[in-house]
Amino acid sequence: MSDAYLRFESITKQFGPVPVVSETELEIARGEFVAFLGPSGCGKTTLMRMVGGLDTPSTGRILLEGRPVGGPDRRRGMVFQSYSSFPWLTVAGNIAFGMRYRDDMSRAEKQESVARHLALIGLEAFADSYPNRISGGMRQRVAIARTLAAGSEVLLMDEPFGALDALTRERLQVELRRIQTHEAKTTIFVTHDVEEAVFLADRIVVFSQRPARVVAEIDVTARLGVERSLDLREGRPFFDLRNEVLHLIRHETGDPQ
Ligand SMILES: Nc1ncnc2c1ncn2[C@@H]1O[C@H](COP(=O)(O)OP(=O)(O)O)[C@@H](O)[C@H]1O
Ligand SMILES: [Mg+2]
Repeated sequence: MSDAYLRFESITKQFGPVPVVSETELEIARGEFVAFLGPSGCGKTTLMRMVGGLDTPSTGRILLEGRPVGGPDRRRGMVFQSYSSFPWLTVAGNIAFGMRYRDDMSRAEKQESVARHLALIGLEAFADSYPNRISGGMRQRVAIARTLAAGSEVLLMDEPFGALDALTRERLQVELRRIQTHEAKTTIFVTHDVEEAVFLADRIVVFSQRPARVVAEIDVTARLGVERSLDLREGRPFFDLRNEVLHLIRHETGDPQ
């Protein structure tokens, strides 16, 4: 299919003599939530950085709506594990900062957008708080809101919940899925956590150990549906799929996880 929204065309990546990504072909549809799952050090972050334009493939191309991606721009917004907020800006100020280059918006529209995104992440009451006065989970929500407010069409998330405690993490997973479905943003979410991938994604792409290559693709939505609630996690279909994916990882990637 040549009409994929985001397309990896024979991507490889080497750092010096070290192959990190081997021949990768992948197509992602507009609005799809794809999880990249694979062992630590296999090349997931490298792939993500190439989509974001922070790195370039050694061979092959990454196409967004048929055009090769260049350097970083606000169409592709990245959210990392540790949130780099500006400590001298409030929560609202950090979200507004994401819109600094948006010449397409008036001052009033930007104010409205800050308010809308604060509501979306449920942090209206913290608009005037500074990042060092809110929890890690709240800071990650601010990072997501800032990226959305910047007008990003593609969300690139690299283990964004990796540093959070289990309960906060679960809550943010539910929230992210709700926001992503509501905003219809194409999302690539990197994780090495099988349950996180199964809970969040429409499709899971499993990578081998380094050099990363696609070893399996799992259509999660076909199995679990679009709606994801915490109840889902306790049911049989979720449990079965999680076990299947774990099995795949053990046997296909050579990872003893
Ligand atoms: N800039 C770089 N120069 C050299 N080696 C790198 C560089 N970035 C990543 N690597 C190596 O590439 C491999 C894959 O890294 P990475 O993409 O971060 O894996 P993952 O995110 O799956 O844990 C690792 O062995 C890492 O040490
Ligand atoms: Mg990584």
